[in-house]
Parts: sequence; C-alpha cells; structure tokens
Amino acid sequence: MTTVAGLDETAVAGDEEFWTRARRHLVRYSGTEFTPAIIERAAGTYVYDSTGRAILDFTSGQMSALLGHCHPAIVGAVQGSIATLDHLFSWMLSRPLVDLAATLAETLPDPLSKVLLLSTGGEANEAAIKMAKLYTGRYEIVAFDRSYHGVTHASSAATYSVSRGGYGPVIPGNIVIPTPNPYRPLFTVDGRHDWQAELDFAFDIVDRQSVGSLAAFIAEPILSTGGILEPPPGYLAALQRKCRQREMLLILDEAQTGLCRTGDWYAFQHDDVVPDILTLSKTLGAGIPVSAVVTSERIEQRCHERGYFFATTHVSDPLAAAVALAVVRFLADNAMDEVARRQGDRLRAGLLALQARHEAIGDVRGRGLLQGVELVTDRTAKTPADEFGRAVTDACFQLGLHLNIVQLRGSSSILRIAPPLTVTDTEIDDALHILDRALTAATDRPR
Ligand SMILES: Cc1ncc(COP(=O)(O)O)c(C=O)c1O
Repeated sequence: MTTVAGLDETAVAGDEEFWTRARRHLVRYSGTEFTPAIIERAAGTYVYDSTGRAILDFTSGQMSALLGHCHPAIVGAVQGSIATLDHLFSWMLSRPLVDLAATLAETLPDPLSKVLLLSTGGEANEAAIKMAKLYTGRYEIVAFDRSYHGVTHASSAATYSVSRGGYGPVIPGNIVIPTPNPYRPLFTVDGRHDWQAELDFAFDIVDRQSVGSLAAFIAEPILSTGGILEPPPGYLAALQRKCRQREMLLILDEAQTGLCRTGDWYAFQHDDVVPDILTLSKTLGAGIPVSAVVTSERIEQRCHERGYFFATTHVSDPLAAAVALAVVRFLADNAMDEVARRQGDRLRAGLLALQARHEAIGDVRGRGLLQGVELVTDRTAKTPADEFGRAVTDACFQLGLHLNIVQLRGSSSILRIAPPLTVTDTEIDDALHILDRALTAATDRPR
C-alpha cells in the first residue's frame, strides 16, 4: 500500500503472527495484494479491523452485502434455517425453495418464471450457457470485450476484462464484440457516440467469425468489472434485436445490478428488454453464496426434454433459498428500489460536486448505488491516471473508506463505489468527505 504523506497510518494493522501464517498457508487467488488489515467484525455499512478502526464498506463486501453486514433479516434466515432445514439430497424439494421461486418470479416480467437455485455467479452463468446451448442446439457464445462472468469454465471463456492467459485453450466458439463506452466511444458522428454503427460493425464481425452456431449473447446490463460502463439508451434493445435476427438467446448477468442496486429491481427494466435467461448471484444472497438462473417455461421445457443436467451438491438448498427469500422480501417490503434511486442520487450529486473541484475526475457514471469514477491526468486527452487511482484508494482506506479500483488490464484509474442499499445519508456524506480528502492528498503527494 502506498503511504500518503500527512495521513495517519493506523490502517496497517500490525499483527505479525497473523500475516506470517497467512503468507505461509494461503493461496493467492488474484494478481493483487490482500488488503492490509485484519477484519475482526462487520456490521451495517462498516467493517472493523483489529485496531478497532471502523471502515466504511463502499464495496458491499465483494459487491454482495446488499443490506449491509450481518443484517437482522439475513441473520434470522440463516439461524432459522441452519437449525431446522439446512441442506438436502439434490432431488428433494422444500418449502423455502418453492416460496423463493414463486416470490422471485413475481418480481420479474413474463415470461421469466422458472428458477434454478445455485450457489455462485460463475456457476449460474455456467448453467445459463449450458441451457442456451441445449435449447438452441448450437455452441457459439458472444460477449463484450470488458465482460466479467466468473472463473468457471464457460463463464471464464466468456470473460474478457481479466487475464485469460496461462490456461491453454478456452472452449471453442467464444466471440467478442467491443463494449459500448460513451466516455471513450470507438465510433462517433459529429462528436457523438454512434453506438448503432458500432453495434452493426460488431455484428458484421460476429457473422464473419461464426461457423453458423450462434447460441447466445451474454452481457451485464451495466458492465461493472469492465469499468462501470452503462450502454447508451436503446443499445440493449438493439442488441436483443441482433440476437433475435440470428435466433440467439440473450443472457443477462445481473450479479451486481440485480435486486434494486441500480434503482430498478433489475437493470434490464431501464432498457425495456426482457432477457431469455437471467442470472442473479452476489446481491441475491446479500453476503451468503446464493445464485439463480431464471428463464421461461418454453426454454425450461425444451431443455428438460433434451436432458438438461445441472444437479450440483448445493442445488435447491433450503438454507440458500431461505436467505434469498429473506432478501427479496426485505427489498419488496421496504421499496428498496426507490431507496437505491434516492441514495444513488445523493451519492451521484456528491461525486459530481467533487468532479467540479478535482480536475482528476474525468467522468462520473453509473446508476443508483452502482457508481464509477474515472480518473484522468488530463480531461481533454482523457489519459487514464493509473498510479493516481491506486494512491486515491490507498488514501481512502487509511482514512476509513473502502472502495475499489476495477482492475482492467493493468489500468487502475476507475473507482467503483457501491455501498449497501441500507447506507445512510450521513454515511454517504462521510464517504464523500473522505474521498475528497483522499483526492487532495493523492494530488499533493510527493512523486
Ligand atoms: C457480473 C458478474 N458475473 C459473475 C460473477 C462471478 O460471480 P462468483 O464470483 O460468485 O462466481 C461476478 C463476480 O464478480 C460478476 O461481477
């Protein structure tokens, strides 16, 4: 961690024995360092380290703790279920599972009514991709070049925002198109993003690459790990038309955007499209590993007839279902879509005010409580401020705010800001104040 001159360094917790044992026994599972703090407990919007420091968690854990940490609704669901109905033979059904499937379906537009309950996001996308292949009888999967869909086989084959290197060939039939990026458009007309021309060009390339086996397009409605990139209005509907023309399915991965985070129950509602298959994960479990695939009766029926198999150890687990049910009920009972919209407006207004004062903020983007800040060295050239991004997040952490950089091919200029939906006005204001100080400290730091 970079130490920013003039800032308190108490964030670096000094339990040497802990770190020695961690270094000796833990596998490092990403290219980056572990956060230099021992987290002892978590509650609401805060995590607390071994020095007693309260750190505002504006990543919602790993974008999952939708209701904050250790929310009573989740604690109650886990405690209730673990003591009475925990895990079952994969072919046994329970009431929480059917209640969840029916309740989730009520939150979704037709024809999304059939639910498969799983554990993680990568797994849900794996199941969705298999479904699309079986349904269409084809195998080619198209995705955006800044996508993130997980680390399992088919999900990682459709993931382009992080390194694919070192593991040999991915599944044959993966095709990529450029991610629409209104801040850095590839195609412009009169200075405006000509996303339709970009999309037409992209599908022309898809058609040239395809061997005639296009099964599905998989997309996040707002690309999160790819840089908080929101496709322009009309784009997703146009993308779906491209899919329909080719009899491909549209899979939307709402791991991060689903369940009220963006101010709508589902981000696709903003774009007036309905996917053929929807995957939910992170937010569905609000901190507990739960995911789901939702599709139509027609797709489910044909897949079933063709022998669809995705019976994992934890498929349909009552504990997972009880948690997801508690999450969905809490969101509905408390109109959390409206809350996310309102709190998102407050956060965004604060970020725009910071942009007015800090030259380094080139762009503020996102929806609801999923916001991104792109840092640049020069607003006209839009040169990514890579080192600066790391200095800002390090300074934030030292000042008691955790937010993260989305790691993009070595670049570290985009901050992702996604607090729990239960975040208070004061917590938002405190976080903005810390970010303001961190931007100033990182700007003034000796180079
Ligand atoms: C959009 C999206 N899909 C899928 C995944 C994978 O989820 P998991 O890590 O639970 O497998 C992630 C994780 O970051 C994600 O952001």
